[in-house]
Amino acid sequence: MIPSVLPTYNRAPLHFTRGDGSWLIAQDGTRYLDLTSGIAVNALGHAHPDLVRVLSEQAGRVWHLSNLYEIPQQRALADALVEKTFADTVFFTNSGTEACELAVKMARKYWYEKGQPDRVGIVTFSGSFHGRSTAAIAAAGSEKMTRGFGPLLPGFVHLDFGDHDALRAAMADPQVGAVLLEPVQGEGGIRVVPDQCLRGLRELCDETGTLLILDEVQCGMGRTGRLFAHEWAGITPDIMMVAKGIGGGFPLGAVLASETAAAGMVAGTHGSTYGGNPLGCAVGLEVMRHVADPGFLEAVNRKAGLLRQRLEGLVAAHPELFEGVRGVGLMLGLKCKLANTDLVAAGHAQNVLTVGAADNVVRLLPALNIPDEDIVEAIERLDRAATSLKAG
Ligand SMILES: Cc1ncc(COP(=O)(O)O)c(C=O)c1O
Repeated sequence: MIPSVLPTYNRAPLHFTRGDGSWLIAQDGTRYLDLTSGIAVNALGHAHPDLVRVLSEQAGRVWHLSNLYEIPQQRALADALVEKTFADTVFFTNSGTEACELAVKMARKYWYEKGQPDRVGIVTFSGSFHGRSTAAIAAAGSEKMTRGFGPLLPGFVHLDFGDHDALRAAMADPQVGAVLLEPVQGEGGIRVVPDQCLRGLRELCDETGTLLILDEVQCGMGRTGRLFAHEWAGITPDIMMVAKGIGGGFPLGAVLASETAAAGMVAGTHGSTYGGNPLGCAVGLEVMRHVADPGFLEAVNRKAGLLRQRLEGLVAAHPELFEGVRGVGLMLGLKCKLANTDLVAAGHAQNVLTVGAADNVVRLLPALNIPDEDIVEAIERLDRAATSLKAG
């Protein structure tokens, strides 16, 4: 009999009832050190008192208004994002997938309004992940995600990650209107696009007028040690998808865009019942207040250095299990020689939580404010997990 919850996930048999900073507490009271943060969502850890406070205060005032009316919390968060980024304007969604939908629509509308409605092509890359809607799976294009769900939304041009010649050729196609990529692939296995490649891509886009859409759903909001990952390369996108960390655990996403890129999105062209609701935006504003603080980002970079150094030590201690460490900031991956799923499971037995990714990688995505002692403790637990695998 089919379970009451549609069985689209392979869930670990863990039942958490409470969160506290970098820790999740199971039904029986066991404490697990959480290096997943709900897959890069709980940017400030679990039950951060400031987020609990603003959410509770907002819940006591008004939950939902609809975009029929002005929503002050939404305006305040949009203003904060515009102030801190390349963007001139923001649309709020409830998820990264919805941000992908709007990014695709915005790019197509841009070219339509410019009198080039055939420039519908969007270049994307192998290993990418942009969500699970029909547009998002068509964008990523992998057989695993798309099989059985056709016909797919047409117009996506799939290239191999890192194939510069193919990229150059694709962008010379007059029907290509945009490029969509994650500066650091998350689900794809913590694959970092080198800064010089992002700069080269920006130049190519400028030469051809192509829109650059960055998916910073997983790598944005302080995760890499800058507010947004593209800042490391000193470039700006035309359109950017954000979600996950921006809500600190409350479902919230956004599309940020330059005024030029957003020019076609006039009244009536897009909408969302819940997008930009007072609860999500109140929480998002508080997350921004913390994460956009230069001192906070400095601390992320320092913690990232500590985690990376300890991970390198783990790899050195178990060269038969691990190939190396990859990633940037607190978005790190352990490239495994053993099955990554075995390490995740062995971690569960040591009460430390990690998450797998493609390319046989185990991801470490701790809360951005994880205490140093929890980083040290996490590595000790991962070391015990690795040792248990060798013994087995
Ligand atoms: C890079 C990236 N884009 C888009 C998404 C989709 O976001 P959501 O699951 O919030 O719809 C994800 C989710 O993992 C992601 O990692």
